[in-house]
Amino acid sequence: MTEKPTIAVLISGSGSNLQAIIDASERGEIPCRVGVVISNKADAYGLVRAQKHGITTKVLDHKAFATREEFDANLVEIIRGSGAELVCLAGFMRVLTPVFVHAFPNRILNIHPALLPSFPGTHGPRQALSYGVRFSGCTVHFLDEGVDTGPIIVQAVVPVYDDDTEDTLAARILVQEHRIYPMAIRLFFSGKLAIDGRRVKVPGEPRIPEFFHRNPDA
Ligand code: GRF
Repeated sequence: MTEKPTIAVLISGSGSNLQAIIDASERGEIPCRVGVVISNKADAYGLVRAQKHGITTKVLDHKAFATREEFDANLVEIIRGSGAELVCLAGFMRVLTPVFVHAFPNRILNIHPALLPSFPGTHGPRQALSYGVRFSGCTVHFLDEGVDTGPIIVQAVVPVYDDDTEDTLAARILVQEHRIYPMAIRLFFSGKLAIDGRRVKVPGEPRIPEFFHRNPDA
């Protein structure tokens, strides 16, 4: 039997998206396994999650490097050494430089808790609430050199209620993140994702738009 391809997952915190990816892998819903989990924070709970599943973990403290580029070059080295075919940013709270982005062209995914291009940056749910939108959601996209600007692969929509707080909205969005991140990884490994400028096309996947009507929270 041939070995499954591996992915590298980068985290900074709780790692609930990482958990969703590990679970999807163990259930055979995505055709890959998590080969290495890298955190820039030694106390990230996601590291414990990974270890519980026997996954190799590494901590690379960004504060130990003089520049972002040096940090990124070290990250690249670890990931290349792991043989990972895809890099998944899952709550990784560092902006990555072109050194990193160009090392893995079209092979880095990110998840963001808003419907991009609305509300990029660190506080997606807070910005959605204060703007007053009626719907928000989450986005999995390819990483490019900007912050949350790369070509979009999958989005899911959630309603915003009058009595929402930042926490209740973030929690509703997170449920959908856990659903669409494995979905995007599955699409990546299907080999069918075609990037056409800003648009990511999925020939032979007519069911993708249907996804928007299946959101149990909507
Ligand atoms: C998620 O909402 C992710 O989109 C954001 O940070 C959060 C990380 O959650 N960038 P977790 O660490 O996966 O639980």
